[in-house]
Amino acid sequence: MTDRGLSAWLQPLSLPDGQALPTRLLPGPMEGISEGSFLDVMTNRGMVTAWHTPFLRISTGVPRRSRLAAWLNPYLATGKPVIAQIMGVDSARLAAAARRLYDIGACVIDLNCACPSPTVIGSQAGGYRLRDPDWIDRTLSAMRQACGSAAISVKIRCGFESPDELPGIAAALRRAAPDLVFCHFRTVREMYQPIADGLERLRRLRDLLPDTPLFGAGDLCTVEDALRMGEIAQVDGITPARGLIRNPGLLREIAAALGGPAFTPMTKEDKISFLHDLSEQSGLPVKKRGFVIHVARAMGIDFTLPGCRDEAE
Ligand SMILES: Cc1cc2nc3c(=O)[nH]c(=O)nc-3n(C[C@H](O)[C@H](O)[C@H](O)COP(=O)(O)O)c2cc1C
Repeated sequence: MTDRGLSAWLQPLSLPDGQALPTRLLPGPMEGISEGSFLDVMTNRGMVTAWHTPFLRISTGVPRRSRLAAWLNPYLATGKPVIAQIMGVDSARLAAAARRLYDIGACVIDLNCACPSPTVIGSQAGGYRLRDPDWIDRTLSAMRQACGSAAISVKIRCGFESPDELPGIAAALRRAAPDLVFCHFRTVREMYQPIADGLERLRRLRDLLPDTPLFGAGDLCTVEDALRMGEIAQVDGITPARGLIRNPGLLREIAAALGGPAFTPMTKEDKISFLHDLSEQSGLPVKKRGFVIHVARAMGIDFTLPGCRDEAE
């Protein structure tokens, strides 16, 4: 892809109902991280242009509108466009929940077919759904029917057992024609282990879905990682996740490298101030602020909160 091609990542992406995502540089959803004070601190510092929620499980029934609104409101309150992610097994319930979330204010409804957690896989949801591409087609089609002109999307990995499954998955996606596809380049079985050919896998998917806006994910920790993904995989946008914990300014650094607004990379002091805000704006009792220590550790910063232990310990 040419430089001009990569600078398209700074352009808005129009959605079928007339809304738009402001850029194609999006924060990857992270359950347990992209919620609570993280949303406010990131938004107030201008680090994101949109939000992508972590998954909401739709299992025994379609949650009431009030419950869905309570879940979505912290994202909507940031004033940024919100991609709401749902996960489950029952296509009709997922479609009904999608409609409600759209009516409440999400601009894209995203179907999670990527989560590798053993609990989720055990319930045949998340990444397990990649084993049945026809189900993905049926469910996206049901969501499309329920949501009218709303944008719908799907988050996948490059296969359940093997990337050789990509052509079958892509064929189902061509039939269902979601408005966007998000893809993390590992397979479900690979969890988070290192792999050598992630960008080539994404490039294969690019060629299988030439007409669908494709967002890449996987090991995007630096500006160079993002540019390399753009050049090799020719994706239309990117969604870094863990790199944003390490460096909350990552999306701004990437935007600046592509000719967007200038941005000075965060210093150690900036990161410490970010952690203080994360802690104080959480409003949680100190002993429940372990996630802040988790973020500090990812940043490589020694940060203590007297009275609080890292929940990962
Ligand atoms: C703590 C954590 C929670 C995550 N939660 C979600 C989630 O709820 N939905 C989702 O689609 N992906 C989720 N992901 C996956 C990320 O969005 C991303 O696709 C993946 O981590 C690969 O990108 P990275 O290497 O930049 O982290 C999560 C990842 C992490 C590390």
